[in-house]
Amino acid sequence: MEMTKESFKKEMAVFKAEFKEDLFSVAEKSLTLEKRGNIGILNFDQYQEKANKLSTPNMLRLMELFMTIDEDKTIEALVIISRKPTIFIAGADISEIQRMARGEVTSETLMKLQAVFTYLENLSIPTLAAIHGACMGGGTELALACDYRIASDAPETKIALPEVLLGVLPGWGGTQRMPRLVGLEKSLDLILTGKSLDGKRAKKVGLVDKIAPVESLEQKAVAWAQELAKSKKKRTYETHFKDRLLENVPGGKWVIFDQAKKQVMNQSKGNYPAPLKIIEVIKKTYGGDINNGLKVEAKAFTELVTTPESKALIGIFYLQEKVKKDKGIEGKIAGKEIKRAAVIGAGVMGGGIAQLFSAKGTRVRMKDISWDAVAKGYKAAYKIFRKLLDKKRMKPNELANIMERIEGTVDYSGFKDLDLVVEAVVESLEVKKKIFSELDSIVSSNTVLATNTSSLSITEISKAVKDPKRVVGMHFFNPVDKMPLVEVIRGQETSDEAVATVFQYAKKVGKTPIVVKDAPGFVVNRILGPYLNEAVYLLLEGVSPTRMDQVMEKFGMPMGPIALLDEVGLDVAAKVSHVLHQAFGERMKPPTAIDRVAQEGRLGKKSGKGIYLHSDGKRSEDSELLSKLGIKSSKEISDDEIVKRLTYVMVNEAARILDEGLVREVADIDVGMIFGTGFAPFRGGLLRYADAVGPDSIVSDLDVLARDHGTRFEPCQFLQQLSVENRKFYQN
Ligand SMILES: NC(=O)c1ccc[n+]([C@@H]2O[C@H](COP(=O)([O-])OP(=O)(O)OC[C@H]3O[C@@H](n4cnc5c(N)ncnc54)[C@H](O)[C@@H]3O)[C@@H](O)[C@H]2O)c1
Repeated sequence: MEMTKESFKKEMAVFKAEFKEDLFSVAEKSLTLEKRGNIGILNFDQYQEKANKLSTPNMLRLMELFMTIDEDKTIEALVIISRKPTIFIAGADISEIQRMARGEVTSETLMKLQAVFTYLENLSIPTLAAIHGACMGGGTELALACDYRIASDAPETKIALPEVLLGVLPGWGGTQRMPRLVGLEKSLDLILTGKSLDGKRAKKVGLVDKIAPVESLEQKAVAWAQELAKSKKKRTYETHFKDRLLENVPGGKWVIFDQAKKQVMNQSKGNYPAPLKIIEVIKKTYGGDINNGLKVEAKAFTELVTTPESKALIGIFYLQEKVKKDKGIEGKIAGKEIKRAAVIGAGVMGGGIAQLFSAKGTRVRMKDISWDAVAKGYKAAYKIFRKLLDKKRMKPNELANIMERIEGTVDYSGFKDLDLVVEAVVESLEVKKKIFSELDSIVSSNTVLATNTSSLSITEISKAVKDPKRVVGMHFFNPVDKMPLVEVIRGQETSDEAVATVFQYAKKVGKTPIVVKDAPGFVVNRILGPYLNEAVYLLLEGVSPTRMDQVMEKFGMPMGPIALLDEVGLDVAAKVSHVLHQAFGERMKPPTAIDRVAQEGRLGKKSGKGIYLHSDGKRSEDSELLSKLGIKSSKEISDDEIVKRLTYVMVNEAARILDEGLVREVADIDVGMIFGTGFAPFRGGLLRYADAVGPDSIVSDLDVLARDHGTRFEPCQFLQQLSVENRKFYQN
């Protein structure tokens, strides 16, 4: 698309007419041009907001400023800089992407916005982006359209093209300029994973040219701009030869594309259209004319943005944004700040929780019954930090500081002035109650007392203290450093303040919390219970473990149910299944095979064998076990039936949880299942999936399953009601 200044001015008039004047005046306040001698400084400081975003009015304003700069012959070089403390540009405005998802924006409109960056790229003067803080998506694409980039070396600087995580691709030139700048291999890695780079790593891959301490970033940028004004040197795409070694050998490019595709298929099982489309676009356009490339990119973007997968991923993004604003309670009470905490129990969970707290800056005392046990907790924490060190995500001196924040103890010394205690000892009501009553006489009356129990009643535990209002569940998932979910459990007496405190702190340490009322299994384990039971029933009916796991991976689960059982441990799974059976009766009755396998000492991955045999990180089927359980291989059950049996029992249980009012809203279930189990994100969560299938169709399938396999499939009343009234879980 040929863009002259004149045609731009016309386009601008049309655009401006579309947007109300006040929106444009906000953009005028947010993006300003300042002249320092012969250097233009374009300041981005989104009016009355925390983050700079590239909304359409802001893009128009940018265009206006680029045209002004173009016409002002006294400006000989340009620096683009943000005035926000930790954000360069947070990306495009997601609500506009949603408009696109509704099919309201065409690829022509997108190309007009692309042209803003093309105009920047074609300015006759040298241009330079000075990046400090989050530089995401459109922000990175703007920086890529500049001739040069200088970034701060501060940890807040994170540069990424994360569009793939929303099921789309970078649509403002990212698929064109990134590969040209850093070469095929590195750009594919960045665009396909959406990973972010700090200043140093960005310099290493050639994404930025220089780095500077944040305090002198602006000064260095302006000084560099002055040099560039003299030399008038525009950029050339000069990647180091060694970065393009493979792509330069005959056939090398195809090898790179092939490998990228294989990796994508391996990881996504073909469930995500965006990464495949990204490869296709780059393959088609790399090395060709950029204007044509932009056209292909725009077309691909508009195709992707209307896919159900992208809608689901954008939906999840919104869920996360909502959690960020949520306080966990309806009232106005604020959560208390946590400066000092303690963890009781230095086992698998306690060690992980102590590691997490200290990594996020909290001093934490870690108590166990013996120094040996405390040492194990230290070791577990150190192992996680060590991995970060090896990946160069942490410096050795930082490691020492963080480890120092964890103080081991075998008694209650130092427990008087704590803001929070998290108990993570063995799963025994008696032991836990004893610990809570000890704590009651030691800690100050302001300390919030949390338990990480996965199956015991918070209300029951809270009876051990004089003031049960301060007792709350803080249920982390294993492994703590990797699993994003925390269930915040409200007991009958728990105060708003305790809930708000733990909710807020969970977010501070980087987790995604949901609030759940105290009931057996809370949300995630309760929904997983019937799923894992059903997996064992299917196994006993002759569906091989490998096949079942493959079917569910293809469905979108991060691992299949049998692999999950082995990962969790058969002993742990058996224990939870009995708690659930006792609480909910017949429909949760676990197949006796779970106990039988566990009793043989086949506890899963941790003992080298469970349902599978595990060795060297690989699993294989054990025909001996299968024949011992009397299982004969059968292929009569179709993949479709496997999926239905395994997922509909979860939907049914989730419907009961909603009916019992255990969560505040439908979305909490999806947040719980996505962040607690990795439930197929491209399906938008368990209940979005149920809505896509349709509650009426699920109910009729459940009726058939109940007839053929037993009452555990009987659709609950709530689900039946949805079906009868032709409603869905979500209103929209
Ligand atoms: N492992 C999981 O996957 C998982 C997930 C979520 C929640 N949980 C819950 O977390 C808690 C801990 O589980 P875990 O897997 O870390 O167990 P674990 O067996 O690895 O660790 C328990 C630790 O508690 C210590 N301990 C026992 N009695 C104690 C006492 N009186 N004072 C201080 N320390 C004591 C033990 O020495 C041990 O180090 C349980 O309530 C469990 O239900 C576990």
